[in-house]
Amino acid sequence: MEGIELLEKDHGRIRSLFSELESTADPQELQDSFDKLGNILTIHAEAEEQVLYPEARNCEGTAELIDKGRHEHDKGDEMVLAIQSISPNESEFKVKVRELQEFMLNHLDEEENDLFPKVRQCMSDQKLEKLGSQLRETKANVAPEVAD
Ligand SMILES: [Fe+2]
Repeated sequence: MEGIELLEKDHGRIRSLFSELESTADPQELQDSFDKLGNILTIHAEAEEQVLYPEARNCEGTAELIDKGRHEHDKGDEMVLAIQSISPNESEFKVKVRELQEFMLNHLDEEENDLFPKVRQCMSDQKLEKLGSQLRETKANVAPEVAD
């Protein structure tokens, strides 16, 4: 799978975990889905920062989008950390998850609409395939048990 396709697939998993979180009030289910989401967000951000962003910087018009992406990953990490200290039995849990959802979905949309098309346009098919292998390798190194 080429690199951008792989990242879009991650985005799909992130979106569906947010939907799961929206559709349950069961504390255990909330905790399980949130734990999964936290892992995927971490791995995904690492893979983008270590592999995608350095490569994408060589493409025209991407510098600002990449800087913004990094900031948004940091902010997302902070939000995840804050939620980790809240019990899913408290109503605040869902409130904070919803804030994270709004923030992250906006980030995913921006990447898909602005950054990814620029990268696809600037890289050859071969280069995109190579990006895919590098992303898979990085994800496996960051968290072998959850990466795929
Ligand atoms: Fe991202």
